[in-house]
Amino acid sequence: MVLVTGGVGFIGSHICRYLLEEGERVIIFDNFSQGGLELLQKIRMPDIKNKLKFINSDITDFAGLFEILKKHEIRKIIHTAAITFIPTAVSNPSLAFRINTAGSFNLLEASRILDIEKFVYISTSSTYGDFQYTPADENHPLEPKDIYGATKAAADRIAISYYRSYGLPVSVIRTSSVYGPGDMEKRVAKVFIENALQGIPMGLQGGGTQRRDFSYVKDIAKGICLAAGSKKADGEVFNITGGTDHSIKELAEMIRGFIPTAEIVDTGARAIDINRGRLDLTKAENLLGYKPEFNLRDGIRDYIKWIINVYAPIFNLEIKNKPVIK
Ligand SMILES: NC(=O)c1ccc[n+]([C@@H]2O[C@H](COP(=O)([O-])OP(=O)(O)OC[C@H]3O[C@@H](n4cnc5c(N)ncnc54)[C@H](O)[C@@H]3O)[C@@H](O)[C@H]2O)c1
Repeated sequence: MVLVTGGVGFIGSHICRYLLEEGERVIIFDNFSQGGLELLQKIRMPDIKNKLKFINSDITDFAGLFEILKKHEIRKIIHTAAITFIPTAVSNPSLAFRINTAGSFNLLEASRILDIEKFVYISTSSTYGDFQYTPADENHPLEPKDIYGATKAAADRIAISYYRSYGLPVSVIRTSSVYGPGDMEKRVAKVFIENALQGIPMGLQGGGTQRRDFSYVKDIAKGICLAAGSKKADGEVFNITGGTDHSIKELAEMIRGFIPTAEIVDTGARAIDINRGRLDLTKAENLLGYKPEFNLRDGIRDYIKWIINVYAPIFNLEIKNKPVIK
């Protein structure tokens, strides 16, 4: 039985789908903080909701989560639950620490006591801070620039220490700028697509020159599950991303390729982003056989379709600019 924390979340829901396709039995552990369970199922998992078990609980409650792991005889944990939106973490550092760091510690400690067979922690390229070189490999120094990156980096290191000190079979995945069906946060790809569809210009800061390794969510779910199923991955950290970098301006132009009447404007605002770029996937390729299948164009096409067909009707998004999608 695999337990996915944050399983009704954006990346978690795709992990659950991938695991079910692999024939696993899956339990979701989530506090449904992004909305009611019914709404989240409708948005992210109408096709699989009947195949999953849902537990409403919180990773900050050690006693509660310990009982759940024991009762359901959990053998594997994929831990995605977190405060994941950087502005939310920055405006509430205490909550970010309690969930991202102390909550992850709770899960690791319960896993050690219960002798769990595999623990996969989902970390982030934000732990690297400004990239000192690209492509950034897993040995890049961890110099997070904000409280989100710092709380995630702390849990990333604690997770690996559970392997080194206690032999708990832990793998850590660092991913970056994930986008695709199911994302509801105000991240750049979603904001741009929504704006483009609604006739609001896509606004670039600092000329949109900042580069990001955009990662399509289905690739990321697959990479995470490859690590979850591999003994070779125990005690290891992997970059799992799309594997190429694009500027924010290129992203906007790509979206305009599908929504030709969309506008791109330079807002004149200074960019306040972390200075990032491409991540090195050599280790994930060699040890896990990971290879991203979606380029940015294909991923964005899928994401636009999902926003139109699933997201827009639920959230009454008015579509003024018609996309041209073959
Ligand atoms: N989305 C990205 O671009 C990105 C990039 C790098 C790393 N990550 C990491 O990937 C993981 C998943 O991110 P996501 O984008 O799917 O986020 P998400 O916000 O969509 O999902 C997180 C889930 O965790 C749940 N949760 C939050 N606090 C909880 C708690 N105390 N107890 C139980 N459940 C709780 C939420 O209800 C939500 O369903 C996170 O750990 C994040 O740091 C995400």
